[in-house]
Amino acid sequence: MTSAGLEKQTDTLTDGISRGIRRQIAGVGVAQLAQTYGTPLYVYDALMIRRRCRDLAAWDTIRFAQKACSNLAVLNLIRSEGVMVDAVSTGEIHRAEKAGYPTHAVLMQSSDGLPPVHPIVYTADIFDRDSLDVVAKLGLPVNCGSADMLEQLAARVPGAHVTLRVNPGFGHGHSQKTNTGGEGSKHGIWHEEIPDVLRRAEWAGLCVSGLHMHIGSGADLVHLAEVAEALERVAHEIGRSLTTISAGGGLPVPYKPNEVHADLGSYFSLWDATRKRLEERFGHRIRLEIEPGRYLTAEAGSVITEVRAIKRQGTKKYLLVDAGFNTLARPVLYGSWHPMSLCPEKESQNQTARGPAEEEIVEDVVVGGPLCESGDIFTQQEGGFVETRALPATSVGDYLVIETCGAYGFVMASNYNSKPLPAEVLIDDGQARLVRTRQTPDDLVRGETV
Ligand code: LLP
Repeated sequence: MTSAGLEKQTDTLTDGISRGIRRQIAGVGVAQLAQTYGTPLYVYDALMIRRRCRDLAAWDTIRFAQKACSNLAVLNLIRSEGVMVDAVSTGEIHRAEKAGYPTHAVLMQSSDGLPPVHPIVYTADIFDRDSLDVVAKLGLPVNCGSADMLEQLAARVPGAHVTLRVNPGFGHGHSQKTNTGGEGSKHGIWHEEIPDVLRRAEWAGLCVSGLHMHIGSGADLVHLAEVAEALERVAHEIGRSLTTISAGGGLPVPYKPNEVHADLGSYFSLWDATRKRLEERFGHRIRLEIEPGRYLTAEAGSVITEVRAIKRQGTKKYLLVDAGFNTLARPVLYGSWHPMSLCPEKESQNQTARGPAEEEIVEDVVVGGPLCESGDIFTQQEGGFVETRALPATSVGDYLVIETCGAYGFVMASNYNSKPLPAEVLIDDGQARLVRTRQTPDDLVRGETV
């Protein structure tokens, strides 16, 4: 299958963006949001999240990898779309329960002979002691990324059904740091170990009923498509006990203007054909899952920041905003490129002080944050090489909107430099709602003693 066959043109979102100026997010004014909730501020568009959930409706189960964006209001929204959830820690199990996910298996109404689905699955390469306790107490299904987990689980939950997360020997991600396959990755059970691991599962009295592969995050569909073939081979080794297969996550989203949305129809057809062959071989229905994180929330999220200083360092012009890599870590970690646009400070300036002619003045600027570390730059390539971005002329007090931040944005924010975690707002049907308050100075020292 060629990449051309798997990719299609992206749909574009307008929402008040023109020539690098953005006045609204999901129908609400950027300046109004900034002035009501303060900056830096994470803002999510509920409609966009719903659209992305519905894009994947062909799959029997969509399981959200909540590590991408685990705010309770977002989880609740995703749950209300019929999407299940993945948890990689006791904290994520707690979040799933708080957002209304039941811990027991449920039979989906339209299931047509498929096995029941578990709303929450615990996926990891180890059990820490807490997670083993919680998984055993709640009876949650487990996706095991190492064989040692099998005996540890069997000792606590005799006869449990388990999923094996298999490393097929290859992987792909937008960065080497997000490639989860091959010998360079710690993830999953190595594909050549399967016969041995199946023996261990049998001795431990477990039933292997699920098979899962996730080769990386931000992969392309050509690499992802190779997984179906690899999974089918391992499925044959496991045999008839298998009732669920998972294609993992990794679906890419467009970040740069020239990037396109993947052709999800072709991707589903490929996996559906794999599932059908396995059903024929085993003589029973197989549930087909997909486990996206980024795809469901990335495009829905933006960070609103305020421009606090503008200065020159030799030939370079710097915009310094009030968000740093404590707010959004992807640029410093992976050299990730996020779209950016500016919004004048006052709504009224839209029509008066800033005419179209002024909007057309574009400058190449470096965008950085407030942290005491040189790497606190949003416009950088992997390896820390600073680059510039063409943005409309701006003044201190204007807002800079960093876009496509809804996945691996807030969840990777930190308190570095004793900066509070930002507030989060969800906009639904033109109404903005605060779904997480900004941390206070007291929050920063909670639990510490002198
Ligand atoms: N399933 C498993 C087992 C995973 O480890 C992940 C992501 C996913 C699903 C969801 O992958 P997605 O559909 O979002 O690509 N912080 C990085 C991404 C790390 C991904 C970790 N695992 C970033 O900002 O790009």
